Amino acid sequence: MQRKMIGLRAAAAFAVAMALGFGALEVNDARAHDEKDPRHMAMESLSKNMEALSRSLRQNPPGDADHARAAELVDVANRMPALFETPNPGENQNRAKPEIWSDWAGFSAKIDEFRDATTTLAAALKADDPTAWSSALQTVGRSCADCHRPYRTPRR
Ligand code: HEC
Repeated sequence: MQRKMIGLRAAAAFAVAMALGFGALEVNDARAHDEKDPRHMAMESLSKNMEALSRSLRQNPPGDADHARAAELVDVANRMPALFETPNPGENQNRAKPEIWSDWAGFSAKIDEFRDATTTLAAALKADDPTAWSSALQTVGRSCADCHRPYRTPRR
């Protein structure tokens, strides 16, 4: 049983790394690290929390730090509509596509998917149900990519 759990944890963490793929984890963007740019800070926190979660869950059952990380993912999901309200926060070049605003309904649907995925993940971690949280982690990872693909311009 113990061995099976560890296998499952490692598989989940690996799946997340794959789902995040290129792009999602690139914090060293051409864009400067700008603490006054809330959108940038929020996205960075998503990467950090996802990385930390997959690293932690590979080894241990979900603990307080993991619940806090999942709660931060949910929090960013809830703040996303406000974070993307205006096309150009700060003075940075950004990679937000104009389609976000010309197709706000489509973009909002991606935010909703992301909010559902992160909420499901937080609940699965609380229940410490490895089957549920490993699949929820993958869904969250996919949901990053599902939004980046249509709404973020490729890296310059
Ligand atoms: C609903 C859409 C959406 C979801 C969901 C989403 N992102 Fe993003 N993300 C964007 C957009 C759009 C940008 C480009 C923003 C900009 O340049 O202003 C971006 C940018 C980023 C950046 C670069 C930030 C910067 O300023 O350098 C990172 C890192 C990132 N996302 C990570 C993630 C991770 C990890 C997840 C999932 C856990 C995720 N994102 C989920 C839309 C999304």
